Amino acid sequence: MQLRRLGASGLMVTPVCLGTMTFGSPVPETESISLIHAAQDLGINFIDTANVYEGYKRFLGSPGGVAEAIVGKAIQGRRDRWVVATKVGAPVGPGPQDRGLSPTHILREVDRSLKRLQTDYIDLYIIHWPDRQVPPETTLAAIDQCVRQGKVRSFGASNHSAWQMCEFRWLADRTCGPRVVTSQVPFSLLRREFEPDLAFCEKYGIGVTPYQALQSGLLTGKYRPGEPLPPDSRAAEKPDWIWKVDEPLLKRLEALRHLADELGTSLTRYALAWTLTRPGIVSNIVGVKRLEQLREAVEAAALQIPPEHFPRIDAICPPPWKQPDPLRG
Ligand SMILES: NC(=O)c1ccc[n+]([C@@H]2O[C@H](COP(=O)([O-])OP(=O)(O)OC[C@H]3O[C@@H](n4cnc5c(N)ncnc54)[C@H](OP(=O)(O)O)[C@@H]3O)[C@@H](O)[C@H]2O)c1
Repeated sequence: MQLRRLGASGLMVTPVCLGTMTFGSPVPETESISLIHAAQDLGINFIDTANVYEGYKRFLGSPGGVAEAIVGKAIQGRRDRWVVATKVGAPVGPGPQDRGLSPTHILREVDRSLKRLQTDYIDLYIIHWPDRQVPPETTLAAIDQCVRQGKVRSFGASNHSAWQMCEFRWLADRTCGPRVVTSQVPFSLLRREFEPDLAFCEKYGIGVTPYQALQSGLLTGKYRPGEPLPPDSRAAEKPDWIWKVDEPLLKRLEALRHLADELGTSLTRYALAWTLTRPGIVSNIVGVKRLEQLREAVEAAALQIPPEHFPRIDAICPPPWKQPDPLRG
């Protein structure tokens, strides 16, 4: 796999990033560790976790920590081969300081993440969700402290819009603080609302690492009209983590599958390859349950979608409305 620049971080990463949200359950610890090692053997050098990840057992305010601990065990003795991203901000308990982007929470959680990951630095520390209670300058000061202490190397944002990242950028430039260098947003053929922000990211050195590029497995071809849900699929196991599989959705999936068929490839590869054609997108964060799924994600990085497919894709999965440009067309 050809390495790509991760925004202005100075890091080079693979176009596949291993997601860990399901590590612990339904993917047990030993299998999760094997998947991480297999990913490395396949050439993947980028892994995404979060302080809250603990698989299907997660509920709002549960303590998390499971996936980070698994990653920590798996990368022992091979730390330098990985670009490790983790996140902070989502609730890890019931108290007012157990969530959000305040210095108290961030500075406590960064130490906990480092301990679980069994490392002394995080390559990419990501603020998980916007926190409207905390001024961005307060958050930035805490991240800056993490960077100055050597605990964090680069700063990323997740689920933030372009204007929110722009605000962080202005503050960073004014204070010589760390700039946001990555954006992690939900983005797939079925979910394109962040598409207008991609141009901003590309222009300002923010590498985009979409999550749920397979829309939780919907874009894999495993859900078919008239067929029952596969028993070991997410839709059957964890329906609250996936959209409802109804007839209109299945119709769109079939139309996309026909396009993939024309190229002699799977819908999985087609969907992942498509996101990589969008401006500013660096690496797909993929969730996998099994090694074959990981292999397919790697194969997708080599697939080229012919330009004549793009308008046909847009007809099935319309992009967000775009202001016409009467000056330049
Ligand atoms: N920043 C955020 O707020 C945020 C939010 C969500 C996720 N994330 C990150 O993004 C990662 C991916 O999220 P996700 O797992 O929800 O979404 P996803 O990558 O769209 O879906 C992954 C699921 O699709 C199925 N799948 C994957 N490859 C397949 C293949 N080749 N064939 C058939 N099925 C396949 C598997 O589920 P089944 O086999 O069980 O059907 C797998 O668990 C997470 O691990 C996490 O790191 C970040």
